[in-house]
Amino acid sequence: MRKFLIANWKMYYGPVKAGAWIRAFRRERLPKDADIAVAVPHVSLAAARASLGRATIPALAAQDVHWEKEGAFTGEVSPTMLQEFGVSVCIVGHSERRHIMNETDEMVGKKAVALQKAGIIPVICVGETDAQRKKGQTKKVIKDQLIAAITDLAADGKAPAVIAYEPVWAIGSGKPCRPQDAREVHDYIRELVSKTWGPRYRDETRIIYGGSVNERNIGEYMTTTGIDGVLVGGASLDPRIFALICRTAAPA
Ligand code: PGA
Repeated sequence: MRKFLIANWKMYYGPVKAGAWIRAFRRERLPKDADIAVAVPHVSLAAARASLGRATIPALAAQDVHWEKEGAFTGEVSPTMLQEFGVSVCIVGHSERRHIMNETDEMVGKKAVALQKAGIIPVICVGETDAQRKKGQTKKVIKDQLIAAITDLAADGKAPAVIAYEPVWAIGSGKPCRPQDAREVHDYIRELVSKTWGPRYRDETRIIYGGSVNERNIGEYMTTTGIDGVLVGGASLDPRIFALICRTAAPA
């Protein structure tokens, strides 16, 4: 399976720094047989696109979207607006949006559907908090979040969804989830995907891991069966480090 590797800058890098990051990343040696994307703040999309020109590596990604095409939704950005920048990937349901901005499972589902209709690959994030994990609720949380997000999605749409397992306690904490533990959750996600979309999609769907991934631990994830890529936050802010992660994940 082709690896899916996505940088998530979060709320870092306005247009000036975004352009510099893209130029520095493009100077690095990058694997060709992996899908590499960079999710930038909305205000930096234009600068990132200008620095990228027609280049498709990395693919340009957004960090969030609204599900309507247009309307009275102050502060929001629609899938068609993202299309104008050539955005081909968009994160939805990141835990920071679920837990800080109170996004619901239903909103995440609507966003994923709207993106797919616009031909933009939704990267759907799911994951349990530390408290939920300690109470043994991991599977229930994953199931609720995932089913709400994928039930109305087309399994064989032109922009097949990527699922990101991101345990909230591992994000930005420097305490990554052990690859073997992530694998168990990935297997469970595959089961749910198979039940919802059909058995064919069990193996066709890319399920990636996110949470304190860096250049030192990337290898362990990539040698774990069932982990098809990574979502990298903090360690992606340095273009050379993210490039190193990409090269380690998909050696030429
Ligand atoms: P992190 O963030 O790599 O800094 O833990 C991951 C994420 O954005 O979910």
